[in-house]
Formats: sequence, structure tokens, C-alpha cells
Amino acid sequence: MSIKPLIILPDPVLRQVSKPVERVDGDLRRLADDMLETMYDAPGIGLAAIQIGEPLRMLVIDLAKEGETPAPHVFINPEILESSEQRSVYEEGCLSIPDYYAEVERPASVRVKYLDREGKLQEAQAEGLMATCLQHEIDHLNGVLFIDHISKLKRDMVVKKFKKLAKDKAPGKMVG
Ligand code: NI
Repeated sequence: MSIKPLIILPDPVLRQVSKPVERVDGDLRRLADDMLETMYDAPGIGLAAIQIGEPLRMLVIDLAKEGETPAPHVFINPEILESSEQRSVYEEGCLSIPDYYAEVERPASVRVKYLDREGKLQEAQAEGLMATCLQHEIDHLNGVLFIDHISKLKRDMVVKKFKKLAKDKAPGKMVG
């Protein structure tokens, strides 16, 4: 397992639509393990493959709190089958948009189908934080970021800030 560099806003890679996984094999499971290790290291509670530059429809989630036994979940080719009318609000952040948080309203529960890390078809009803996290990560597979769910004014401010940070860090910049 290894920790991979995270793709950070405004990298256009984050806007790619990821492709369905065709085969659940050892290579894919290794990628899932790398994603988990990268996520734990950050630390974060969810990560989509595109965030380490792999445009595949796979995401990992672990909602266990510090000190609790890790509870890693791997979702391959996840699809939302049903979303509740009822909505809930969570303060969200993203490993690709470090140190920025904003409240996002989404359906409070979702029914999803996906392949697990053995390639077995599963269906699950997710509520609370798991529902929010799944929707946030599935958005990544479609090139959508949580800042797309906030006001344009706030979004423009965040994007501008990260564009400036990226420019300041750009290689080859001469600092006298
Ligand atoms: Ni994210």
C-alpha cells in the first residue's frame, strides 16, 4: 500500500467524469488499499479514485471516529437508486479543497447499488453522515465538487483563492 498525492482544486482532473470499473481484480483492490491509506493519512472520511488521479468509478469511506476500530467501505460503480424527499444539512469539506468547509443540503437518505471489493453486487440504504458522504463522493465520479452546491459568490471566492495558491506554488517560479 502507498500514500498517493492528492489532486487539489483548481486541477481540471477533478472535473473529469470517471469511467465504470470493468473488472474487480487484484490491481483494483490495490488501488482501493492505496485510496484508503491516502485517506487515513490525510486524514479524511471519504475519497474518490479521481482525487488521486485515477478516473475510475470507485470510492472509499470510513466513518469510524478516532480510537474506534476502522470500518473501511469500498464502493465500486456506485449508483443512487432512490433519494429521500427529506433533506439534511452537513458541514462538508473535501481533501481536494483543503481547509475549506461549508454547509451543504442534500437528500437525508439514499438507496445505492454498487460492487463491493470482491466484485459482488450489493444494495444498501444509507442515512445520516453516510448518506451525505456517499453523495459527496459519487459527485466526484461525475466531476462535481461540493462547492458546486453552494452559492456562486462563495464558490467564486474559493476557486479564486485556490487558483492563487496554485500559482504561488507553481514550479519554475523565481523568488528573489
Ligand atoms: Ni471531496
